[in-house]
Amino acid sequence: MNRDELAKQIESGKFREHLQKGFPAEIVSRLDQLRADELKKRLNQVISVPIDLSGEMSHELLELYYTASWYNIFEKQNLPRNASVFEVGAGDIVYIPKALDAYSAGQGGKYVTANLNLELSRGFREKTAGMQIDIEIIPDNGANILNYYNEESFEVIAFHHALNDIIQTVIADLEGIDTINNNWWTIEPQLLLAVMEYHNTGRLKDAAYDAFIRIIDTCNRLLKKGGYMVFDNCTYAGYDSMGYSSEFHSAYIDLAREWINEAQLGLEEVEMPSYDRKWWMVLRKV
Ligand SMILES: C[S@@+](CC[C@H](N)C(=O)[O-])C[C@H]1O[C@@H](n2cnc3c(N)ncnc32)[C@H](O)[C@@H]1O
Repeated sequence: MNRDELAKQIESGKFREHLQKGFPAEIVSRLDQLRADELKKRLNQVISVPIDLSGEMSHELLELYYTASWYNIFEKQNLPRNASVFEVGAGDIVYIPKALDAYSAGQGGKYVTANLNLELSRGFREKTAGMQIDIEIIPDNGANILNYYNEESFEVIAFHHALNDIIQTVIADLEGIDTINNNWWTIEPQLLLAVMEYHNTGRLKDAAYDAFIRIIDTCNRLLKKGGYMVFDNCTYAGYDSMGYSSEFHSAYIDLAREWINEAQLGLEEVEMPSYDRKWWMVLRKV
């Protein structure tokens, strides 16, 4: 979301009580002392293209950027405090449950993720252990979520930086790479280079479109009418040198927009003035 707006909200203390509370005390106190223009400058240093995590407090600023951005989406769309959110492929990143936990404020929010990699799921479980919301990890493909939950039972479907993970997993299945039992970071170079190879040889859409749309279509059926499917994407520094194009990665939201439009699933894009369309996509089930 817009960093100017976010910096002003941080300065006003909007996130002090919940989203900043897990940070080391020293970081909390430094964030408290920064005025909005300095906060904006620091956010801009981290939330750049590609994401730059080399500076001080960069991991906390990245987390605050994403948790606050998702919190603000829940708030702007006026979700009930006891909303149910389903995330595909959380890995061990807990930004969405953290945002929901803060938004729900003890009033009964529910969070479910379909997460295939076992080691990352263990990390996810540890990091979310103290949250008040009801949390469930389903060790299955997001495409199978209707085996666990009824249609029209969730208010939000979340894809936080997950388009790449979903496409990588589809290609890994074709290439016989095990993404469930392996350490994800050990096989990541193989996954990235395999996707790149399919893209460079013009085979990516033929290989991945059907499996990708199956997940989106299933998630759409899981979504309540009027509910939201929200995607974000970003590009981290350091991948071009290994042959993985950050230009390709930067276009993931546009790729998803094009494929989902083509599939005509009854989802309409919502205008979100503070959210850049290149990095965010918010769809509403009509
Ligand atoms: C590296 S983590 C990504 C975490 C988070 N999306 C992020 O980038 O911040 C990738 C996770 O997505 C999972 N994943 C990929 N495709 C999936 C699918 N179709 N269903 C369930 N999990 C999936 C992987 O198994 C792994 O646990």
